[in-house]
Amino acid sequence: MRRKIIAGNWKMNLTPAEAVSFANGIKNKINTDTADVVLCVPAVSLAPVLEAVAGTHIAVGAQNMHFEDSGAYTGEISAKMLASLGVRYVVIGHSERREYFAETDEGVNKKALKALAEGLVPIICCGETLTQREQGITIDFVRQQVRIAFLEISAADAAKCVVAYEPIWAIGTGKTATAQQAEEVCAAVRQVLAEIYSADTAASIRVQYGGSVNGGNAAELFNMPNIDGGLVGGASLKPEFEQIVKYNG
Ligand code: 13P
Repeated sequence: MRRKIIAGNWKMNLTPAEAVSFANGIKNKINTDTADVVLCVPAVSLAPVLEAVAGTHIAVGAQNMHFEDSGAYTGEISAKMLASLGVRYVVIGHSERREYFAETDEGVNKKALKALAEGLVPIICCGETLTQREQGITIDFVRQQVRIAFLEISAADAAKCVVAYEPIWAIGTGKTATAQQAEEVCAAVRQVLAEIYSADTAASIRVQYGGSVNGGNAAELFNMPNIDGGLVGGASLKPEFEQIVKYNG
């Protein structure tokens, strides 16, 4: 039985002081009994938010990392730096990074390998554009993203990963995929993972849905057989995040 994982992706929002204040406001209301809960915060807020949630079961994640250990990469942050702070998760290959910062499937693969080598859990993002959905190539496209992301990753490491299926047309648009649409692609993600590894390994990898998740639609989405929680953007910055985490009750 896979444990649900619900992650808030704060994107480029909140100053460190605002981040601490928000984390302090929600930390005692978030129920971590039934799901793993992760706050993926801007890099400058990682240390203060880690301190704010210390002593709770809320984990902290970064939104990006570099795939090299160190070197002349101005502005970048390595996996080792994140791990040394106490960060446990890192979002990799978010569609916004692919779109605005030219991230490629190959780069996503390198980052995932490095994250795992440093003991971080990569949350590997995939998802199609509206045009691709209309062309009927969603499943083919997402399968390819997943295949490349997992190149050279061992079965033991793959089992630790989280995949986030985020249809780009549903991100920040208020247009959520239906539970059936989301389930269809999350099931296809699990299927390709079963082809790469084994049914057992695929069954242990958690697959999230992301894209306009809110307090009203979380239960229907997260109760689908292949959806193991969500990667939540806008609603993770609202008190509503608490309802999303306790979607079943
Ligand atoms: P929204 O929940 O704001 O649509 O964002 C989804 C997302 O991109 C999470 O990574």
